[in-house]
Amino acid sequence: MALERMRIVGGAPLRGEIEIGGAKNAALPLMALTLLTPQSCRIQNIPDLQDVSTMVEILSALGVKVARKERAIEIQAETFNKTEAPYDFVRRMRASVLLLGPLLGRFGYARVSLPGGCAIGVRPIDQHLKAFEALGAEIQLSDGYVEAKAARLQGANFRFELNTVTGTANAIMAASCAEGVSRFENCACEPEVSLVAETLVAMGAKIRGIGTSTLEIEGSRELGGFDVPLIPDRIETGTYLVAGAITNGELFLRGANASHLQAVIEKLRETGCTITEDPAGIRILGRRPIRPVQLETAPFPSFPTDMQAQLLALLCLADGESHIQETIFENRFMHVSELMRMGADLSIKGSVATVKGVSRMEGANVMATDLRASACLVLAGLAARGVTEVLRIYHLDRGYERMESKLSAVGADITRVQEST
Ligand code: EPZ
Repeated sequence: MALERMRIVGGAPLRGEIEIGGAKNAALPLMALTLLTPQSCRIQNIPDLQDVSTMVEILSALGVKVARKERAIEIQAETFNKTEAPYDFVRRMRASVLLLGPLLGRFGYARVSLPGGCAIGVRPIDQHLKAFEALGAEIQLSDGYVEAKAARLQGANFRFELNTVTGTANAIMAASCAEGVSRFENCACEPEVSLVAETLVAMGAKIRGIGTSTLEIEGSRELGGFDVPLIPDRIETGTYLVAGAITNGELFLRGANASHLQAVIEKLRETGCTITEDPAGIRILGRRPIRPVQLETAPFPSFPTDMQAQLLALLCLADGESHIQETIFENRFMHVSELMRMGADLSIKGSVATVKGVSRMEGANVMATDLRASACLVLAGLAARGVTEVLRIYHLDRGYERMESKLSAVGADITRVQEST
């Protein structure tokens, strides 16, 4: 497929309404969850994203029935032809590790390629594997694969050494098939993890403490199907809130759930934006000057690492100096060098980026390196003077559905162009 880029002519204040889609980071674990039952499962308002398509490919390769029906996806894992996720899939999407828990739980065996690192960090899965071992699984690493075996998983107590979103999801999926009760401490509390737990309850598992960092799970041999709507994507929501702020516009984000991103809303209010919440969505009114802020990323309900790059773009135009500390990933500032090429005044020392606001950024050709860095560069382009071309936007398509059409509809001059050969 030819490489594509996004061409943006900056300067227009965005005005209008954007529909928020289903959450990517809820869709992926829920698609893995369907492996726990032979009954039919349905996920409503599924977003049309590259990562979702990759997960469809993986499930189909396992022999699972998958059917996409408009905005829903129906999955039935009645028959399997294998319980292995090959390297070719996992290298494209780390979230394939979410297959480990369900395959191990249901079949007592799973062989999944170890995910490589990615642009933002090494991202090991040691906590996932320690949780499985606590449940009685035997783990072997060979040829770049994780092999997990267990005659029957046994309920156990386990404390995560650090906050891990997919690690928590993997562990509770496995524990839902284990004999007896498991108690997990220091669990991730992200809304996507709570949706996995709530869906498991709908399937017949007994889980207490959902939404807190301590979960008690009573396993069941017979888990049934489910039919659930995805929660709205809180990072897509935050990204478009910044689009409204950085262009000094006014946007209404229909379907957004403000309770999933209070830390982002509070931080944007601190920069001077006016944000109002109602049951139908969130409204943002940009403001000038943009006030500088201090920020530290941290697990939910604190400010999410997946919004760090987007807020950084806004702070490049603030009236003063801001500091952003990235505490989750060790290499999540690659957008900084690209922003500097647009005239931003940035420096990095360890895990802290210092932003001295400038009055204006200039359009430039910039390179996307990962999903949220790509979004950050589009946001900067919306506010910069002149033309910005964001290259390698396959990163963007992993997590944002039809970004150029959603932004064009509210006044952005943005088009997707094929790379000239
Ligand atoms: C999830 O990744 C999200 N992906 C990421 O979103 C998000 O950035 C991340 O959580 C943090 O919120 C999905 O949900 C599919 P972690 P995950 O395990 O689960 C370390 C996006 O942009 N760690 O919470 O892989 C790890 O290296 C993506 O949509 C271990 O050391 O993240 C990282 O530094 C990017 N050992 C930190 O913990 C482990 O066993 C948080 O990782 C697990 C994690």
